[in-house]
Amino acid sequence: MKILAFEVRPDEKDYFQEMRDKYQIEIEERTDGIIAQNLDDCKGYDAVTCLGMYNIDREILKGLKERGIYYLATRTVGYNHIDVAAAKEIGIHVCHVTYAPDSVAEFTLMMMLVALRKYKPAVYRQNVNDYSLDGLIGKCIHGMTVGVMGTGQIGRAVIKLLAGFGCKVLAYDQFQNEEVKKYATYVSLEECYAKSDIITTHLPMLDSTRHIINEKAIAQMKKGVVLVNTARGELMDVNALIHGIENKQIGALALDVFEQEYKIYHSNRKNDILSNRDMAYLRQFPNVVMTQHMAFYTEGSVSEMVIHAIEGLLAMSEGKPWTMEL
Ligand code: COI
Repeated sequence: MKILAFEVRPDEKDYFQEMRDKYQIEIEERTDGIIAQNLDDCKGYDAVTCLGMYNIDREILKGLKERGIYYLATRTVGYNHIDVAAAKEIGIHVCHVTYAPDSVAEFTLMMMLVALRKYKPAVYRQNVNDYSLDGLIGKCIHGMTVGVMGTGQIGRAVIKLLAGFGCKVLAYDQFQNEEVKKYATYVSLEECYAKSDIITTHLPMLDSTRHIINEKAIAQMKKGVVLVNTARGELMDVNALIHGIENKQIGALALDVFEQEYKIYHSNRKNDILSNRDMAYLRQFPNVVMTQHMAFYTEGSVSEMVIHAIEGLLAMSEGKPWTMEL
């Protein structure tokens, strides 16, 4: 099998080499994403793998198929960047990956603590020899009520960690999970909004979840609520977030993801003129912490992302059942 791997980062290279050695397959690595202009480079390959920063829409999928690509693996858990329904129609098999949910879950807990303990302004002050304490008083997470929206693998891992911190956990999901009930109480969205001191989103990005956190939702939350998003930027309406910070309905915001982060996050854009004004505006608030979509980024996750993607492509091409095929 010949695989063309797009969006490859230096830290993935060793794992790609492991896959070549283990399965005796050809894998060509490149750093750019799959776009209309480079589709011709896919000729002569059977499969491609990508990493989520580029949209794989119907046109791109058609272009891939026309160049002989039958298999696509995204080295990500989320697959909102791929038109999976179109892929099915066109005849391209698609799979995604799983990796230890603790990588994202632990980062989520860190974001909560960073927000509650005013870590961002504290570090700013340290850097300029300002050792004052005014305005830096924090709150303990122990005893807080935390709303976890989405109880898939990552949401569940977050819930267990929160239970360990002595939080009261309220869970919201369309599908209830028995294990979750040991650590949390399932509630309606309205109750989750009304009772939570902190709310964290771990829902998949679907049409039905786009902007689930909007003006109306924020208005139902406790004044001073802490919002955390380590899932997908589009789950939260950025204008509603800005409004909530400005009118102090939101007490703190911790965002590892951002609306329209694509082609910005994971690249060095230091010398570029960026047009995402909301990103620049929100970043300057002392109670807004932002990171560059890195909650997944642990050594364990990176190896699993590459291994599962390549093994998925192999399984699909051999017609074997693969649980991560979409
Ligand atoms: C995912 O796996 O879904 C992520 O968010 C990771 C990122 C590389 C897109």
